[in-house]
Amino acid sequence: MILPPATLGMLGGGQLGRFFVSAAHEMGYKVWVLDPDPHSPAGLIADRHLVAAYDDYVALDTLGSECAAVTTEFENVPADTLDYLTKFIPVHPAASAVAVCQNRIAEKTFLADHGLPHGPFAVIRGEDDVRNANAELFPAILKVARFGYDGKGQARVADRDEAIAAFQHFKGEPCVLEKMLALDFEVSVVLARDEAGNVRAFPTGENRHRNGILDVTIAPARAAACPSEGTQLSAQQIAERIADKLGYVGTLGVEFFVCRGELVVNEMAPRPHNSGHHTIDACDASQYEQQVRALCGLPLATPRQHSAAVMVNLLGELWYEDGKGHGTYREPDWSLLHAVPGLRLHLYGKHHARPGRKMGHFVVTGDDAEAVLERALAARAAIGIRDE
Ligand SMILES: Nc1ncnc2c1ncn2[C@@H]1O[C@H](COP(=O)(O)OP(=O)(O)O)[C@@H](O)[C@H]1O
Ligand SMILES: [Mg+2]
Repeated sequence: MILPPATLGMLGGGQLGRFFVSAAHEMGYKVWVLDPDPHSPAGLIADRHLVAAYDDYVALDTLGSECAAVTTEFENVPADTLDYLTKFIPVHPAASAVAVCQNRIAEKTFLADHGLPHGPFAVIRGEDDVRNANAELFPAILKVARFGYDGKGQARVADRDEAIAAFQHFKGEPCVLEKMLALDFEVSVVLARDEAGNVRAFPTGENRHRNGILDVTIAPARAAACPSEGTQLSAQQIAERIADKLGYVGTLGVEFFVCRGELVVNEMAPRPHNSGHHTIDACDASQYEQQVRALCGLPLATPRQHSAAVMVNLLGELWYEDGKGHGTYREPDWSLLHAVPGLRLHLYGKHHARPGRKMGHFVVTGDDAEAVLERALAARAAIGIRDE
């Protein structure tokens, strides 16, 4: 067991890393963050911020010699970096698990190999793969295998010609071509797994996206999003199987589509997940505390969600006069949110807002799930988020 006041290492300095730093601090640990951005949200509150690239071996040597263990908040950390650090200290999740989650081809192949539910797809490495793809995949989405996030690196394509054009636009990068599914709902499971294989899952959450980016999470998911009684449980069971097969240690997010009452795994995130932010406000142990526990070999908490919760993401366009990224740049009027009962605002300290950039979020909690949703949606409208 790694106990306080040990120093923990975090690869990546985004908001997920920032919440990890907060959780670790509350538990008595120190945290060093490695991120090339001098203004990174986690770096700002870390005990030390190593401003360096993920393949800067001098910085990795420092991290490896000063930290007791290291984890990540960013799935695109090079697997070689994780492997290298393994020579010094425990690294969780392992490079092999992160490698599966950071490449859509490896991810889809992993799901197929283990008989886990996934949508129809084809691996695209050249234009001929598009020509040979099953006609039933269209209309489809072409996604670059690596480095896509928040809907980036994706193109919706009606037919083969559009798919070839999109593949050329992505400069021939390896891709997956996914059948466009009719989604009834999107749900996600966040869980933690320790080295002994114990798993603790949070209740399944229901996610709404806007322009390919998570907008609202309703937790726990409403009954309608879990069509059969067993769906909640089986989403958790599928996520647990994924964690087991990956030999995963840490906090893992698994995104699902619900199509005609069936669960389909969309993707996995080898880190805490945006749809698990509310666990800070609505559970007696957060996804970030679980990440600390798994990393340090502490017993996992058995988290209880004590309140219904709705999380709303605050994206950069809110900082612009028209709410879409144009006009005067100014700070949103946070007093409107602070006036809402049961609402907690979390801002990440990013110094410039760009449209689509995750700048903060708020969570409304309470006893009555319907009232919480109503209050959260009213607050979302009041701060200026509109549905086109
Ligand atoms: N095959 C699909 N069919 C229908 N909608 C999809 C499909 N793939 C992605 N989407 C939509 O786009 C969103 C983002 O896609 P995702 O693969 O999760 O990428 P990201 O890494 O950007 O989160 C999904 O949450 C879903 O709303
Ligand atoms: Mg996603």
